[in-house]
Amino acid sequence: MEVIVESGAHAIAVRVADAVCELLRRKPDAVLGLATGGSPLPSYDELAERCAAGLVSFARARGFTLDEYVGLPPGHPESYRAVIDREFVSRVDFGPGAVAAPDGSAPDIPAACRAYDDAISAAGGVDLQILGIGADGHIAFNEPGSSLSSRTRIKSLTRQTRVDNSRFFGGDVDAVPAHCLTQGLGTISEARHIILVATGANKAEAVRQLVEGPISARWPATVLQLHQHVTVLVDEAAATGLELLDYYRETLRLKPDWQGI
Ligand code: PGA
Repeated sequence: MEVIVESGAHAIAVRVADAVCELLRRKPDAVLGLATGGSPLPSYDELAERCAAGLVSFARARGFTLDEYVGLPPGHPESYRAVIDREFVSRVDFGPGAVAAPDGSAPDIPAACRAYDDAISAAGGVDLQILGIGADGHIAFNEPGSSLSSRTRIKSLTRQTRVDNSRFFGGDVDAVPAHCLTQGLGTISEARHIILVATGANKAEAVRQLVEGPISARWPATVLQLHQHVTVLVDEAAATGLELLDYYRETLRLKPDWQGI
């Protein structure tokens, strides 16, 4: 796991965009894992700008989102399908139908979850997964207690996650669905490269646990310690809990130029 502390959200976005552009140069039909939430937004802005400038194309790429609310009517503006379309997919040049999302209104939820995992496998797996992290250590909607080998499935959201997300539902916690479909921790762990982005002091404890805590379902993101290629991009505020911070900075400073992230 590589930890890179950046000065702020823009510097993080440049790093993420560089990694996506480099991947698409090497593999134009790459499969991207796309997170929703606030953390990846500056990266999506950066990529949309580069795409508009002709510096990168998503025309042959495909994408899979991580999660979706259960029970929102299709097309609801806060469904993650609508959010990723609005905030990223519609701003770059993906082909029609190139980005898939779990179907939270499917009549047979377990079948829809299995079909989603199968579709990721059929696409050859995710080459680069962009991830955020919740203050409670969740990744996607894998709340504390999630099996570290879980597959895409239905989960109950914690009260805290519903409170955090109520800002998108007019401040009404009860308007936030209680259930979601989410890629499992086992599903996410199959991505070949994972870039996790965290900014702000309210993420510092989750980042500390992710990087230096014991692997535990109590902090689901800690499963990433078992992955061979994870890049953690944080700002100074999110890095404050890290005991080995000086080592991570020194490692970056001395890193060979050829190595990339
Ligand atoms: P955020 O959410 O990027 O909006 O902070 C991250 C998450 O809850 O996974």
